[in-house]
Order: sequence, then C-alpha cells, then structure tokens
Amino acid sequence: MASAAKTVVATGASSGIGFEAIKQLLEKKQPYKFILGARDVAGTQAAYSKIDFDKNQHSVAVLPLELSDLKGVKRFSQQVLEMLGQAEKIDYLMLNAARSHGAEKPGTHGSKWCETYVVNHLSQHYLVHLLREKLVASSARIVFVSSGAIGGVKDPSTLETTLKDGSGANGMVVYPASKLVGLLGAHWWRRQLTGQCTVVAVSPGLIPETGLGRGMPGLTIPPEFMKDVRSVPEGAGSILAAFSRTDFPEDPDRIFLTSWGEWWGREEISVSLGKELQDKWSPVQGRNRGGGGNCCLKLECIAKREVDIGLPRGWKTCARQLAMPST
Ligand SMILES: NC(=O)c1ccc[n+]([C@@H]2O[C@H](COP(=O)([O-])OP(=O)(O)OC[C@H]3O[C@@H](n4cnc5c(N)ncnc54)[C@H](OP(=O)(O)O)[C@@H]3O)[C@@H](O)[C@H]2O)c1
Repeated sequence: MASAAKTVVATGASSGIGFEAIKQLLEKKQPYKFILGARDVAGTQAAYSKIDFDKNQHSVAVLPLELSDLKGVKRFSQQVLEMLGQAEKIDYLMLNAARSHGAEKPGTHGSKWCETYVVNHLSQHYLVHLLREKLVASSARIVFVSSGAIGGVKDPSTLETTLKDGSGANGMVVYPASKLVGLLGAHWWRRQLTGQCTVVAVSPGLIPETGLGRGMPGLTIPPEFMKDVRSVPEGAGSILAAFSRTDFPEDPDRIFLTSWGEWWGREEISVSLGKELQDKWSPVQGRNRGGGGNCCLKLECIAKREVDIGLPRGWKTCARQLAMPST
C-alpha cells in the first residue's frame, strides 16, 4: 500500500451511509488505510470484498466492535493502537454508528442507561478518550455523525429520564435524545481538543433507505418532509464533506455541518450550547484522591458531580476535571 495513505478509524461503516462513505473514499486516488469496527466482522469483510477497489492503493481491516459493551470498546481501541504502532497516525476518526430503538423495556446490556444511549453516545465518547493521545499526536479530525433530529428535544432536562434503561420512551423520543447527547459530546471534545484536533459534527440528511428505521417500526415520513429525502450516496457525500471542509465559522461553537453544506448557526443548535450540559453528558476518567488536590472530594465538585453515567468504575462526570488533562 502507498506510504502516503491517510488512516481512517470508523464506527458504523458495516452498512448504511457509513459503508457508502468508505466505498466512496475507496474510489479516490488518495490512498487510505481503513480500520473499521463492526459487530459482524465476517459479513463486513465480505461486503468490502465485493467492492472493486485498488488493493495496492487502499487497505481495509475490520475489527470486532459491539458498542453496547464498553469492555469491547476498550479491546477495539487497544487493537487499533497495536495496528498503528508508534509511527502511524489516525488522520480521521469517524463516529457514525447508531441505532434508533426505544427504551420501552429494560435491556440486557447491564447498564442503567438504555442501549441506544450507550451505543450512540457513551461508547463512542469512551472511544475518543481511549484514543485521545494518538488523536492528539496525529492532529486528527474527529467527525461526529449527528442528525437534525436533535431539534426534536425541546427540553434537555428530560434527557436523563428519557435515556434511562426501561424508561418507556419509544424510538421517536430516545433517538433524538441520544443524538443530542452525542452532539453535546462533540462540543465538549471540541473544547478539550482546541488547537490539537479538529472536531466536526455533520448530518447526512433524511435518508429512509438505511437500516436505521429498524428501531422505529411503523415510522412513516410525513409528506411535507418527502422533498428533503436524499439518497444513501448523497448522505455519504455530506459526511465526507466534514472530512475536508476547512471554512470553519469564526464562532468555535458552530461545529455542525448540515447536509446542504451550511454551518448551522447558534440558534439552530442552541439546545446543545450550554457548557454545563455538555460537561454533564461527557464523563471523564477520575479518581478519588482522598481529598487531596485533585478531584472529586472538593466541595465544588461534589455539588456538580456524579451523574453516574454508567461507565466502568472510576469514570465520572465532574466539571472541575475539565481543567485537568484526562487520561
Ligand atoms: N438515515 C437517516 O435518515 C439519518 C439521518 C440523520 C442522521 N443519521 C445518522 O447517520 C448515521 C448512519 O446511520 P444509517 O442511516 O446509515 O443507519 P444504519 O444503516 O442502521 O447504519 C448504522 C451503523 O451503525 C452500526 N451499529 C448499530 N448498532 C451497533 C452496535 N451496537 N455496535 C456496533 N455498531 C453498531 C450498524 O452496524 P450493523 O451493520 O451491524 O447494523 C451500521 O454500521 C447514524 O449516526 C445516524 O444517526 C441518519
């Protein structure tokens, strides 16, 4: 493979818009090295083997990744880092995987949070933490695939109730809520990684012909939205625009690229701009250090902390930690 290859690590590239986006990159002259996380490794490998691409130019590796399992996320990150070694960079991290199921009944994945939240936000947020050092060393671009569905959440104080496991909320409520917390996480990472990585959120547009509707059986698109429907290749093209656009607005909060190519204004994403809300939904790794200097036992932390977001032991939200480099 050509040595000038750019490395793309991606979730959600086994099917749907993510698969199409990688397929479009495989048609480019620019060489790429893809490391893709998928729950069906053999099926994903078979799907890529059917694409006629130049194997001397590009490479595609598929590693197991089940995003409802945080331990599996850690294994995936370790495998990615082993594959890359010290020398190789991550040029792009594409966080595209999502599901749209509701939380009508308690799940079996062992979290107090519903599976859609764990898959769509928590696991992928955790993955950024696990790859952080490499991403920073690479000056990587991190692309959070978001959705205009975030506009469906009018009151963010409902997120905590909606996203609990077995909350009773259906996919029409849980999916927008999960995509909003994903966008809150994107803002949070943009703040953490300013000057180190580029963080972009992007919507592919309304694309009914993907697997996403599996979680919302019976969903029909209202006639007034039919004019906005786009094809899978068009949606993939929108995501890829987020790989290459450099015309960032001066306002650093305007990270959301629409499917029609505009950077959304503050009004459109106002529900995601509260920094306390971003902090609350963006857990960091923390340790209680016996009331010493660092964290979690200070009064100001106790006041804000511990929305236990279901991460492995030692991971907590804590506003004060934002000033510290997290590990
Ligand atoms: N379609 C739309 O209208 C639309 C609109 C706005 C935003 N989006 C966003 O676009 C992105 C792609 O969606 P899509 O429409 O292409 O949906 P899709 O066809 O259902 O693809 C979703 C991808 O996520 C993966 N995934 C789901 N659950 C997973 C899990 N537990 N562990 C690991 N991977 C998992 C799927 O893997 P499998 O192949 O194993 O299922 C698939 O690769 C999502 O972030 C979605 O929110 C879509």
